[in-house]
Amino acid sequence: MTSRTVTVIDNATGKQVELPVLEGTLGPATVDIRPLSRELGYFTYDPGFMSTASCRSDITFIDGEKGILMYRGYPIEQLAEHSTYLETCYLLLYGELPTATELETFTRIIQKHSMPHQAIRRFYDGFRHDAHPMAIMVGVFGALSAFFHDSTDVHNPHHREIAAHRMISKMPTIAAWSYKYAIGQPFLYPDNELGYSENFLRMMFGVPTERYEPNPIFAKALDLILILHADHEQNASTSTVRLSGSSEANPFAAVSAGIASLWGPLHGGANEKVVRMLEDIVESGQKVEHFVDRAKDKDDPFRLMGFGHRVYKNYDPRAKIIRKMCHELLRQMGAENQPMFEVAMELERIAMEDDYFKERKLYPNVDFYSGLILRAMGIPLNMFTAIFALARIVGWNAHWCEMMQDPESRIGRPRQLYTGAAPRDYVPIEKR
Ligand code: CMC
Repeated sequence: MTSRTVTVIDNATGKQVELPVLEGTLGPATVDIRPLSRELGYFTYDPGFMSTASCRSDITFIDGEKGILMYRGYPIEQLAEHSTYLETCYLLLYGELPTATELETFTRIIQKHSMPHQAIRRFYDGFRHDAHPMAIMVGVFGALSAFFHDSTDVHNPHHREIAAHRMISKMPTIAAWSYKYAIGQPFLYPDNELGYSENFLRMMFGVPTERYEPNPIFAKALDLILILHADHEQNASTSTVRLSGSSEANPFAAVSAGIASLWGPLHGGANEKVVRMLEDIVESGQKVEHFVDRAKDKDDPFRLMGFGHRVYKNYDPRAKIIRKMCHELLRQMGAENQPMFEVAMELERIAMEDDYFKERKLYPNVDFYSGLILRAMGIPLNMFTAIFALARIVGWNAHWCEMMQDPESRIGRPRQLYTGAAPRDYVPIEKR
């Protein structure tokens, strides 16, 4: 903390309050507004928390203007190139990169807990055959809280660590089973000899009657997608996990709330929309330029899905990394000439050269490419957000653990600006 302050003067009363300015390691300084309500009796109004820091955090840093994303100080570009998802999980959870022995131990623990309790299987049977995998995941993950409730003391750091391990470990199984249930295929149990991404692919695409060899290119691409989506600081789902966990609720239940938040189309659903848009373009038989023109037309609500970002007003650093992988994957699969991917590449080219997009800094975002990769891998559209959840499970846990050990943490309880009726008297029903 510095001695810098911001002075607020209430013009109505002449009262004055000094608000301390808090300095982080990077990013904008933050005004501590707590004295405002204490000393002047004011709340602050900030729908969507557009300019409010809800906590201190050491985990992830984003600079949207400069296109920077770092986990624990390490640039995402370096992690994407050199790390693996499980090593990134360790970094996010513990704050440091693991030694070889630490990584080996961590990997063994994550592998060991991958099988959910047998009774968890029966929860799936309660869903209709056409249930969305995210609906199943919200329910099944919430159900996990019942299995670990008595053994999870949220005030015990070791218990918190075990809870995080269990969640990271079981997530691929729970996600893959959500898909298997929806398509009516038998569930496959995890194979603890396989890597994290390979194991997930096997449980998604394997069947008990045949041997399944995970495609190493797919496993690498999936691992990259998991690294890039592992955390994104105080986004809606992470803030949901923090808020529900702030009442000291069971962490499995708090994460289930996070999964629900992620499911929304404004959060985790964008890559699904990208593929739907590309399919619509192909089906329409019209030229790509027609859709670019529509996106530029202010009287047309159509937007190019997968372009632009609320935070990144520069190239999304994740998009830069994943773009390379996407092109490589399509080339290796010989899929570049398939109509949907052709349209995608044409769209990318036109939009990157067009003044409308250049002036507004509307670059293809991470969802544009992750949608294409997942589609090329044969992942069904309704599993896209489930894979996002698979990646983000570590971010949610890292933030929950950080919050639980933060001495400044309080139960989340936003205030409001009440705009309802003024006080009035009850009117008996016969007089209404
Ligand atoms: N296609 C056409 N025009 C666009 C687009 C687009 N995809 N995105 C923004 N614009 C225009 C917009 O019309 C506005 O133009 P003008 O200044 O002339 O009025 C200008 O660009 C600024 O747009 P904005 O709506 O003020 O920007 P925003 O920060 O509010 O919106 C966004 C960000 C992501 C919601 C928006 O770019 C969008 O709708 N993109 C398409 C959906 C999408 O790909 N979403 C995934 C984002 S990544 C999710 C994640 O990381 O979790």
